[in-house]
Amino acid sequence: MQILPDLDILAPVSSAPDARGIDQPHTVAAAPAASGEKRVLIETYGCQMNVADSELVASILGARGYGLTEDEADADVVLINTCAIREKAEDRVRGRLARFRAQKKDRLASGEGDLTIGVLGCMAERLRTKLLDQEKLVDLVVGPDAYRDLPRLLEETGETGQAAVNVQLSREETYADLTPVRYDTNGVSAFVSIMRGCDNMCAFCVVPFTRGRERSRPVTSILAECAQLVDAGYKEITVLGQNVNSYHDEASGASVSFAELLYRISRLSPELRVRYSTSHPKDCSDELLHVHREVANVCDFIHLPVQHGNTDVLRRMRRTYTREHYLDLIDRARAIVPGVTFSTDIIAGFCGETPEEHADTLSLMERVQYDHAFMFFYSERPDTFAARKYEDDVPEEVKKARLSQIIALQNSISAVKNDAMIGRREVVLVEGTSKRSDDQLKGRTDGNHMVVFDRARGLQKGDYAEVLITGSTSATLFGDVTRATTLEAANAASGEVVAI
Ligand code: SAH
Ligand code: SF4
Ligand code: F3S
Repeated sequence: MQILPDLDILAPVSSAPDARGIDQPHTVAAAPAASGEKRVLIETYGCQMNVADSELVASILGARGYGLTEDEADADVVLINTCAIREKAEDRVRGRLARFRAQKKDRLASGEGDLTIGVLGCMAERLRTKLLDQEKLVDLVVGPDAYRDLPRLLEETGETGQAAVNVQLSREETYADLTPVRYDTNGVSAFVSIMRGCDNMCAFCVVPFTRGRERSRPVTSILAECAQLVDAGYKEITVLGQNVNSYHDEASGASVSFAELLYRISRLSPELRVRYSTSHPKDCSDELLHVHREVANVCDFIHLPVQHGNTDVLRRMRRTYTREHYLDLIDRARAIVPGVTFSTDIIAGFCGETPEEHADTLSLMERVQYDHAFMFFYSERPDTFAARKYEDDVPEEVKKARLSQIIALQNSISAVKNDAMIGRREVVLVEGTSKRSDDQLKGRTDGNHMVVFDRARGLQKGDYAEVLITGSTSATLFGDVTRATTLEAANAASGEVVAI
């Protein structure tokens, strides 16, 4: 999941480009609105689930005649889909709100009309009506389960001039019947939300409060959306949930597990790569590991957030596993799925963390050898278990120093691991032109490493290519195309089982 780039050391640092894609604001790149339509600018912060939600919002508003714009000056309505995971994420949104408020004032003062400002998502849910007091001139506050109500709320605020609020959480809403409008897409990789909410209540985490109870979307609607994506030419689907391993569709009669769901998606096309995010270590099943092993187009890459390397800290965090359980799971996954790669999330400086406990995080990282990591320092979130029960007692400079050590270690592990890939042939899905040069393309390996290579053999976005890895940094691999291929042919050649 991608979250706003918190600046400096706060940044969720990835040793490789972020498949979860959270840390840049995503604005729309959609067809302009027809004249006469109200134009909406949607700016998205936070994780990929928020990005997926913004696509739903675009769909809901599009059906009511609203058009999308990416130009602030052209917008009648600005909707900021917000994140509350760390204080820094909220600060960033407050900065954006101040900017849009100034624009609204200018417009009103110059008689140019109005700018409707809406706050959606996790900050809306966390702060509710407090947002109206704190952020004067916000017209709409809409929580993640209330997006169907947006057209009505927009009308209401337009008519009354009063702020309109709906932050009702739901036990059922999965937006299963809606087809998201995929703006801001490369046309190759798509995210599909398979569940909402979280019941885990990790001590540090605000998500159960902002997203409500866990609920799974029916398998039929997930498969229908994935099939549409395949028909539209998409080659990679990442299914999303806060804790995908606990997916269960009981509505379908036959209870469908997450492993079964992945398998069914993988059957839609042998040219489709399937990934997922995020999985909780407590219920990563052997059934799932066997799907990785036995189904060639389910990528052998697992984002498995550990959060900490010390069992006492994990207990204080309420993660429900120990260091030993986690390491056993890594070993089991490596035994069942040869070559599997891992990424993780790590928090430095949680309440009461001692230097010895911090050292355990470093030693766990050494032991696991993650390919990538997203690393944060602890940010206390109001109302969480940790905020209520523990003291946020690790001084900020100590948190930052520990985070720096964690980042430095991960960078060196990533550099060594990437270097060891030189000489390997990898099958890469071409995602588009590299940022460095129009003459170069970029794409990801099965293990989620980003590779940059010269344009060759007429390769286009959405094609598969075999690339010989010739160079590396801690973040990127470089290579030469050895041949264009299909995923099915490449998997057959590598001896991967194509069906179970
Ligand atoms: N559902 C996912 C996590 C989603 S939040 C999971 O359980 O794996 C993404 C990451 O943000 C978390 O994994 C955690 O590392 C980090 N995070 C969450 N709350 C935080 C906090 N209060 N301070 C710092 N980092 C936090
Ligand atoms: Fe937060 Fe834990 Fe749920 Fe992840 S599993 S969203 S860290 S409460
Ligand atoms: Fe995602 Fe941030 Fe909400 S990480 S679930 S947008 S608090």
